[in-house]
Amino acid sequence: MRLIELDTTESTNDEARRLAQNADFGPVWIRANQQTYGRGRRGRDWVSPKGNLYCSALFATDLPIGRLGQYSFVAALAAYEALLKIHPIGDFGIKWPNDTLLGGAKISGLLLETGKTHHQSWIIVGIGVNLVSHPEDTPYPATSLAAHMDTDVDGALKPKVVLQILSGRFKVWKSKFEREGFEPIRKAWCEAAVNIPGPVTVKLPDEEFEGTAIDMGHNGALQVRLANGTIREVHAGDVYLG
Ligand code: BTN
Repeated sequence: MRLIELDTTESTNDEARRLAQNADFGPVWIRANQQTYGRGRRGRDWVSPKGNLYCSALFATDLPIGRLGQYSFVAALAAYEALLKIHPIGDFGIKWPNDTLLGGAKISGLLLETGKTHHQSWIIVGIGVNLVSHPEDTPYPATSLAAHMDTDVDGALKPKVVLQILSGRFKVWKSKFEREGFEPIRKAWCEAAVNIPGPVTVKLPDEEFEGTAIDMGHNGALQVRLANGTIREVHAGDVYLG
């Protein structure tokens, strides 16, 4: 695995984008000890002090643009499995689309960005994992691995060690996806999901509704059954359990 390690950067996703703009399409992982402008989904900040894992994978792709988002589910599985490997008794689960929860609170998030430069399409998968600290005032409650583990067993709380495990799992799921398509990913993702089937509240920029999450479709949308029996597909938005 090619790895670029930095002490401080604005955002590892931005570092990856700079490489792609200079015709370096990886595959490469970039990890920073801290980020000064870490970015989250939906234009949010990702507060990034030292001690947690901040990393981005950059790689070229020839998949049609409409399928690139499927890589976010590949990466979500990798993060989920890596965390489970580190803390096997942890109550982990994935919340749509790609957050890992531990004990019902968010421990890791993922920001996928795509682009095309020098006639080549590429993908950046940025992943943040709260290892030793987590923010307090977040729309969704957050936690860290340290809040659930007594000691740093075998370097479990070291960003470098966690990235090694995470990148290994990502490699496995990425090649399965590229060989066999989205269905095995969709299935594994549904098995790891915390709330399928289960009650959810979906918050969109201009509306909010409740229903029962019943499945994730082949297009990656969360399928929510409303009280009147109709199924609504959620392509973007924030999902809250219950
Ligand atoms: C989210 O859940 O909102 C996504 C968070 C993604 C954070 C990671 S940290 C590494 C990479 N660099 C960034 O600026 N963001 C992602």
